[in-house]
Amino acid sequence: MLSQFPNCITTPPWWQLINWIGDPIGFQKKYSQKYGDIFSMRLSGLGSHVIVANPQAIQEIFSQDSKFDIGRANELAEPLIGKNSLMMMDGSRHRRERKLLMPSFHGERIQGYGEQICQITKVIASQLKIGESFIVRSRMQKVSLEIILQVVFGLSEGKRYEQLKPLLTDWLDMTDSPLRSSMLFLRFLQRDWGKWTPWGRMKQRQRQILDLLQAEIEERRTKNTEKGNDILSLMMATRDEDGQAMTDGELKDELLTILLAGHETTATTLSWAFYEISRNPDVIEKLQMELESLGENPNPMEITKLPYLSAVCQETLRMYPVLPVLFPRIAKSPIEIGGYQFDAETSFMPSIYLLHYREDLYPHPEQFKPERFLERQYSASEYIPFGGGSRRCLGYALAQLEMKLVIATVLSQYQLDLTEDKPIKIQRRGFTLAPMGGVQMVMKGKRE
Ligand code: HEM
Repeated sequence: MLSQFPNCITTPPWWQLINWIGDPIGFQKKYSQKYGDIFSMRLSGLGSHVIVANPQAIQEIFSQDSKFDIGRANELAEPLIGKNSLMMMDGSRHRRERKLLMPSFHGERIQGYGEQICQITKVIASQLKIGESFIVRSRMQKVSLEIILQVVFGLSEGKRYEQLKPLLTDWLDMTDSPLRSSMLFLRFLQRDWGKWTPWGRMKQRQRQILDLLQAEIEERRTKNTEKGNDILSLMMATRDEDGQAMTDGELKDELLTILLAGHETTATTLSWAFYEISRNPDVIEKLQMELESLGENPNPMEITKLPYLSAVCQETLRMYPVLPVLFPRIAKSPIEIGGYQFDAETSFMPSIYLLHYREDLYPHPEQFKPERFLERQYSASEYIPFGGGSRRCLGYALAQLEMKLVIATVLSQYQLDLTEDKPIKIQRRGFTLAPMGGVQMVMKGKRE
């Protein structure tokens, strides 16, 4: 697969797979120390992949997008999100789908969701009691699920909303530990023997979710209520250049994709943000001062423009990438990357983690220093929390809006503290990485 590439990990592929599933960060750190910023791993049953942490090489990959297939490399996610998902598509089909979806996620459209995001956060935060300890990740998951249900699915009440909410939480929680995540990587565990097997249970929930989504789409069509303010309404109303609407299959698979890609990622990143903010008193102080400078009841759009708050979000995304690597890029023909010649079919995975911990780009990378983003501008191949090229995260603007508004809303109303003063480890959770134990905090009091 690789012609004369010297930096190949030589341990048995089954051993590499176990380590990759169990501890993708430790795995990458170990081998980058041995082989440098471009090396290849071989995973039993999942093939060889070249891990890339060199900005120049990552730039070469992003700028030659059309020379790679990415959708077919995401096949591991197909059982969860379906074959009509944007993530599974390549070439013109992918371009068409992105064109249809993109406008719903950007510009003025999403700015209009600011008030709704602040309101959802206020309601969920108000359920906390003074002195009560809580798991930040679970709270943030409630917030981000509610945001997706209201903003994307357009559901905030009623029977279908009540049925969908626990089903979605249950479905997402089915891969919440390294052990449970293995069923996503090991095909022999993917057997649907009814509710007695984890896979069978997961598929059962998924069918129930899809049925409820189908019913919602049909009801909107028959009642002619397609023109709501939410993203599903926009998706139903959109037409491609040939006047074609998205099919029901596409709509449902995209809704699951957005849920899977947008819910965990944002909740996890927010948990890390609260963790780091609470560990660094100077960061809290600067954030409070900046927020107070806006006076009482600031407009959400003013909040999103605050420079220090933005830097805190950027630094969190740098230190705690939710994906250990970007989507694999499979070369369609022989290609030169990073000064090496590779055969067709070579799979490249730019490593968010290794890139974001490069000492030459981020001095003292283990330290949480939002200031670095105020002092320097990083290029699109030096800072890649949302990926790059034609696959850049569809929801990056919504994710950042959500992060800033949730942090600002919580910090301007409550005083929070970590229950324990010890470092929290990163743990695999499905395809993503999350804080082990979910970050436990206590609500110390309300701000006047
Ligand atoms: C902090 C939150 C988030 C992070 C860190 C994140 C990160 C990423 C990354 C790294 C990729 C892969 C890009 C690549 O390989 O070049 C991606 C893709 C994607 N993300 Fe996000 N994401 C976040 C939130 C969201 C949200 C809120 C949504 C939707 C509402 C979303 C929807 C997607 C979709 C649909 C893709 C696939 C794009 C494609 O294949 O064309 N993400 N995201």
